[in-house]
Amino acid sequence: MVAEMTPLSGKSHKVLVTGARGMLGRELCKALSAAHEVRGVDIEDFDLTDAAAARKALAAERPQVVVNCAAWTDVDGCERDPGRAFLHNGWGTWNLAKAAADIGAALVHLSTDFVFDGAKGEPYTEFDLPNPLSAYGASKLAGEEAVRSMVPHHYIVRSAWLFGSHGPNFVRTILETSAEREEIRVVADQFGSPTYTRDLARGLAEIILAGRVVPGTYHMVNSGVCSWAELAAEALRLARRPARVNPVPAAEWPSPAPRPAYSALRSRRLELQGIPGLRDWREALTGYIEESS
Ligand SMILES: NC(=O)c1ccc[n+]([C@@H]2O[C@H](COP(=O)([O-])OP(=O)(O)OC[C@H]3O[C@@H](n4cnc5c(N)ncnc54)[C@H](OP(=O)(O)O)[C@@H]3O)[C@@H](O)[C@H]2O)c1
Repeated sequence: MVAEMTPLSGKSHKVLVTGARGMLGRELCKALSAAHEVRGVDIEDFDLTDAAAARKALAAERPQVVVNCAAWTDVDGCERDPGRAFLHNGWGTWNLAKAAADIGAALVHLSTDFVFDGAKGEPYTEFDLPNPLSAYGASKLAGEEAVRSMVPHHYIVRSAWLFGSHGPNFVRTILETSAEREEIRVVADQFGSPTYTRDLARGLAEIILAGRVVPGTYHMVNSGVCSWAELAAEALRLARRPARVNPVPAAEWPSPAPRPAYSALRSRRLELQGIPGLRDWREALTGYIEESS
């Protein structure tokens, strides 16, 4: 029944992936190419902030599905330069959404747990109201709104705390730091949903692009909740590094951008459609460390 309500019907599609040389984009191009015709593009192909370039690129490629992994993801950089954050993540997304709508393509758009303020104290579902604390979160929410208002067949997929093989990320930083230090100070009072890019890419391919769910907003993260300190300690344990974690409060780790104290996500809309979410974050972290060693 659900399949009849979605434009993504489990067939092979012509897919354009933006942000294709980023951490998720690279993993996603690989995951999608088994079943779809995939073209990956990044800022050197066309810049989303250039409306005419976005329109021209999509009109030339004519994909049936666009997956937007492009974003300015430097959370503290966005706080220092909110104008640029909104230019890339808000206006840039608006341009892409308009170009996708013009050619009748479905748009799968990646967003973030940082659209929430963290005050709920338990995992956020898609039915909770966003209230971003940072310029990054606000600019990503502006991007979501552009997609919702512009593209009838949209899938907004919020994920969180990504780690993977293709870019700088927290887990990689901890493992690199452990080569130089016996003790690593890590924030212990911010909680979230660590997510392996390979699992997210598979989820996007096997759930969203496979047409198993109706359009709308989705949370897609590895299941379970932990703090940055717990994530670091588990990564060190799995990688058999002798370094210890020294848990510290966020107040002792000042950063330009405020971050939610609790931004774990729950995939309630997948549950409602009978689709199991992604595996537990510890299992995913084990997979990442085994696959990258
Ligand atoms: N990383 C996380 O922990 C996390 C968590 C939740 C959600 N997300 C979301 O997941 C998506 C993918 O994240 P990621 O970590 O894979 O990002 P990433 O590694 O930073 O890759 C993003 C890519 O987009 C490109 N880009 C930036 N602005 C652009 C523009 N105006 N036009 C075209 N391309 C542009 C970047 O190019 P440059 O490198 O040249 O800037 C980069 O190659 C993003 O939407 C992000 O908001 C990420």
